[in-house]
Amino acid sequence: MCGIVGYTGPREAYPIIIKGLKRLEYRGYDSTGVALQNSSGLKVYKKKGKVAELEDYIVGKDLHSNIGIGHTRWATHGEPSDRNAHPHQSSSGKLAMIHNGIIENYSQLKKELTNKGYNFTSDTDTEVLLNFIEEIKKNNQCDLEEAVRIALKRVTGAYVILLLDEDNPDTIIAARKGSPLVIGIGKGEHFLGSDASPMLEYTKEVVYINDYELAIVKPDELILKNLGNEKITPYVQKLDIELAAIEKGGYEHFMLKEIFEQPQTIYDCLRGRLDAAEGTITMSGIQQYAEQIVSASRIVMIACGTSWHAGLVAEYIFEELCRINVEVEYASEFRYRNPVINKGDVIIAISQSGETADTLVAIEKAKEQGAIILGVVNVVGSSIARISHAGAYTHAGPEIGVASTKAFTAQLAVLTMIALKIGYIKGTISEERYQNLLNELQEIPEKAAWTLKHSDSIKALAEKYKDARDFLYLGRGYNFPVALEGALKLKEISYIHAEGYPAAEMKHGPIALVDEELPVVFVATKDTYHEKVVSNMQEIKARKGKVISVITEGDEVSRELSNDVMIIPEADEILAPMLSVIPLQLLAYYIGVAKGCDVDKPRNLAKSVTVE
Ligand code: F6R
Repeated sequence: MCGIVGYTGPREAYPIIIKGLKRLEYRGYDSTGVALQNSSGLKVYKKKGKVAELEDYIVGKDLHSNIGIGHTRWATHGEPSDRNAHPHQSSSGKLAMIHNGIIENYSQLKKELTNKGYNFTSDTDTEVLLNFIEEIKKNNQCDLEEAVRIALKRVTGAYVILLLDEDNPDTIIAARKGSPLVIGIGKGEHFLGSDASPMLEYTKEVVYINDYELAIVKPDELILKNLGNEKITPYVQKLDIELAAIEKGGYEHFMLKEIFEQPQTIYDCLRGRLDAAEGTITMSGIQQYAEQIVSASRIVMIACGTSWHAGLVAEYIFEELCRINVEVEYASEFRYRNPVINKGDVIIAISQSGETADTLVAIEKAKEQGAIILGVVNVVGSSIARISHAGAYTHAGPEIGVASTKAFTAQLAVLTMIALKIGYIKGTISEERYQNLLNELQEIPEKAAWTLKHSDSIKALAEKYKDARDFLYLGRGYNFPVALEGALKLKEISYIHAEGYPAAEMKHGPIALVDEELPVVFVATKDTYHEKVVSNMQEIKARKGKVISVITEGDEVSRELSNDVMIIPEADEILAPMLSVIPLQLLAYYIGVAKGCDVDKPRNLAKSVTVE
C-alpha cells in the first residue's frame, strides 16, 4: 500500500518518477505527489486523485531536477486530500519526505512536538515523523542521516521513508521496516521503488533493503547501514522481469490481460518442476524439508483474501492426498490470537505480493515458536519469500490488476504439486492416482486456454445480470472456496454485494435471500458432490432464483436446470478449481466493465496490503 519512487543521477528525475508512479499505482491511488530539487530549492507538487490528475496540475511548473521522490497514496491517517498527500515538507521547508506504512506512536510524538511549538498542516502520521526528524537534527546539530537513525529508534510501526534535504541536494536518505524497498543500481545513478517496476528499463541490478536498514543514496554511491550506524555490504541481485510483463500488451485492462495469461502462467509454474513422463515433481525448496512435512501432524495455511481462498482449496487437497490435518487461518486473526504452535508444525504462507503485513507478522510469530515456514509467493525477493525457511515461487509474473486472478491459479498449481510430492513420498496416494494426476496437471494450461476460448458468452451474461443488487455464489468440496473467490471478485470489481457459501449450508440461512431477482451462481462441475449440488440447484429453482452455473462440458442435467451456463472442460476434481474459477473471474470483470467501474483500480482497494 502506497507506492514510492525515487531517483538521483544525471537524468531528469520527473519523467522517471511519474512513469514509476503510474506503474506503482496498483498500491494506492487516493492522491499523488512529487518532490524535486534544483538550484532554486525544494519543490513539492501534490494533488488528491490519481497520477493523471497530478500530471494535469503540474503542467507549466518548474520540473527541472536531477533528484526527486514521488508517492501514490492509500490513505491511512487523514482523508484523501491535497494537504494529506505526500510528499510532506518539514516546518522549516528544508526537508521533504514520503512514507509507506503507519507510525503507531505518532500521537505521542505529535504531542511532544506540539508542546515545542510545531504546527501541522496535515492529519498524517508522516508529517509528525518528518518534523520529529527535523527537531532531532536541529537539537543534536547532526546531519539528516544521524537524525533519521535516532528518530527511527523511537518509532513503532511500519515504514519505508524517503527523504530529500535542501542542504544535501544530491542525496536521498531511505529506511525501511515492514514495507518493501528496492534500490536499482545504474551507472552513476540510483533508482528507488516499492518494487522494481519503476526501474526496469534502466537497470536489472537491484538491492532489496531489509528491515532496520538505512540507505544513503547518491548518484554514484549507495551506502547501507543498520540503525547502529554499522555499514552493511549491499547484496546485489539480478532482476528477471521484462518490461512487457508490466505493460497491458493490447488489452483494455491489466485484469483482462492477467486472466488471459493464465494458460501461460500455469504452464510457467509447472515448467521445470512437473515431469509427467518421468513421474516426478522437482521442487528443491520443498525437497529440503520433505521429511519434516511428511512427518508433520499439522499444516497451517496462513494467508489473506484470494490467497486465503487458495489455502482453503489446498486444505482439501492436502487432506485427501497426504492425510495430514490442515488448518487455514486468516493471517490477521492468527497474529493476534495466542495460537497453539507445536514443534514440527508446518506453516504454509501464501501470498502474491509477499509483502502483506498481516501474513508477514503471522509467520514471524510462528517462526519464533519453532514452526517450519514454507512460502508460496509470487514476487521474487519479497519479504515473505525471504523470511520463509523454504518454499516455491508461483512464477505468475507481475500481477498489476488490483484484483488477484493469475496469482490464484498459480498458487493452486504450486500447492497441488507440493501435496502430490508429499503424498507420494508418504505413500498416502496410490501410484496410479499419482500418475493420473501428474498427467492431468500437465494438461491444465491447455484446458485453461479452452475455457478462455469460450469467454464470449460470459460478456453477454454480464450485460444480462449487471443490474442485480446481490449475488449468491455456491459450491461444495473443492469448489466451495472457488465460490468464495467468485463472490470476492464480483464485489471488489463491480461493487455488487455478493456472498459465497457452501451449497449445502445455504439451507441454514442464505436461502431466505432467494427470490426471482437473485442470481445464484453455482460452481457445479462434475465431481463427487455433483448430484448433491444438482439438488441444491433444484432448491433454488423451486424458489424462483436465477441459476447461473459453471458446468463441465457435456453436463446436460446442470445445463437444463440453469438459466445460464459457463463451461469448463472435464478435469479431475482436485484440479478443477484452476479452471472453474476462470469463468467467475471473467464474469466479475465484464460486469465491472459494463457498470463503468475502474476494474484495475477499484475504489478503496490497493494491492500489496503493507499496513495491518
Ligand atoms: C483480492 C485480492 C486480495 C489479496 C490479499 C492478499 O483480489 O487481491 O484479497 O489476495 O490482499 O494479498 P497477497 O496475496 O499479496 O498476500
